[in-house]
Amino acid sequence: MRVGILTGGGDCQGLNAAIRAVAKSLMLNHQAEIIGIEDGFAGLIERRVRPLSYADCSGILSQGGTILGTSNKASPFNYQGQDCAAAVVDYYHELALDAVVVIGGDGSMSIAYELSKLGMNIVGVPKTIDNDLMCTERTFGFDTAVSIVTDALDRLRTTGHSHKRVMILETMGRYAGWIALHAGVAGGADVILLPEFPYDIDEVVRACKLRASDQQYSIIVVAEGAKPRGGQLSVQQTVANSPDPVRLGGIGESLKQQLEQHLQAEIRATSLGHIQRGGTPTASDRIFATDVGRYAADLVAQRQFAHVVVQQNNRLSSVPLEQVANQTRTVSLADHTMMTARSLGVSFGRDDLGLVNQYIP
Ligand code: F6P
Repeated sequence: MRVGILTGGGDCQGLNAAIRAVAKSLMLNHQAEIIGIEDGFAGLIERRVRPLSYADCSGILSQGGTILGTSNKASPFNYQGQDCAAAVVDYYHELALDAVVVIGGDGSMSIAYELSKLGMNIVGVPKTIDNDLMCTERTFGFDTAVSIVTDALDRLRTTGHSHKRVMILETMGRYAGWIALHAGVAGGADVILLPEFPYDIDEVVRACKLRASDQQYSIIVVAEGAKPRGGQLSVQQTVANSPDPVRLGGIGESLKQQLEQHLQAEIRATSLGHIQRGGTPTASDRIFATDVGRYAADLVAQRQFAHVVVQQNNRLSSVPLEQVANQTRTVSLADHTMMTARSLGVSFGRDDLGLVNQYIP
């Protein structure tokens, strides 16, 4: 067997653990030859691949980033204005690959689905700090990102407490609030603002005033995709040639300015940005990335193509790429962590979500 591996989209912690698991499983159990495809789908478009030896895949388990490189600007269906998909399929056949393992998020899975329809044998492995891939409870990178944001919240709490300030922390996550919700709960935030539930500024003010009357400081976590009810997304920049050109950012600062019109307290906003995506994966992400990588290798060996590995009800399985492509998994009111937060009086900047969302001293 000759199997290609690529990592696509934004990087995250655990990519190297997944590459290692796919490659070693296939080499050890199926004597496969592994071909590393460089910089995501760009490597297939620009014909940049290299053989990966067992040694290449050793000693990389704990490394952040990806030894293969990645790109979130390289769709074969629209690469610098050109449709290169047919050339990519030709190259795949020239390389005599039996399959390609695509380690990626929703953008990469959408591309993988389209390429699989053109005859490429593809198995998907879910990654992204955003945890927003359809059909899976978990993607690797998420646990590490949540740990980093939680650590930041612990630090903001001590300085916020000392100065009796309102401390705002902006997280990544695109159009899904998973990082903000989980880190907010882990870090004991008073207010969590999510893209899924546009906020009323009056409700955020009310929550901060309640906390000011008791603990005298407030911790607000705001997801980059959050926006005021009836307001606009905060867009930091648009990236030409990217399948999703919008890059979010800036809501933390804009929320600070909105709150300053209503509160006496000093307010500070922090944005963690790409720090959330860098560095070593947690033990849990290393294990999960290794598990899903091994499972993908098994799918390749069983020739179960056009599928992506998922975790459902705490067990690994797979679903057709079609079910994951072009979709985003978002936070719902029925999510159990969401229900926990609401029951504990966390404000989501709304008075119409039902259950308790008011802090009672
Ligand atoms: O999808 C991962 C992610 O980090 C998002 O949370 C964020 O909105 C985006 O990628 C940032 O993209 P870039 O690395 O291109 O700035």
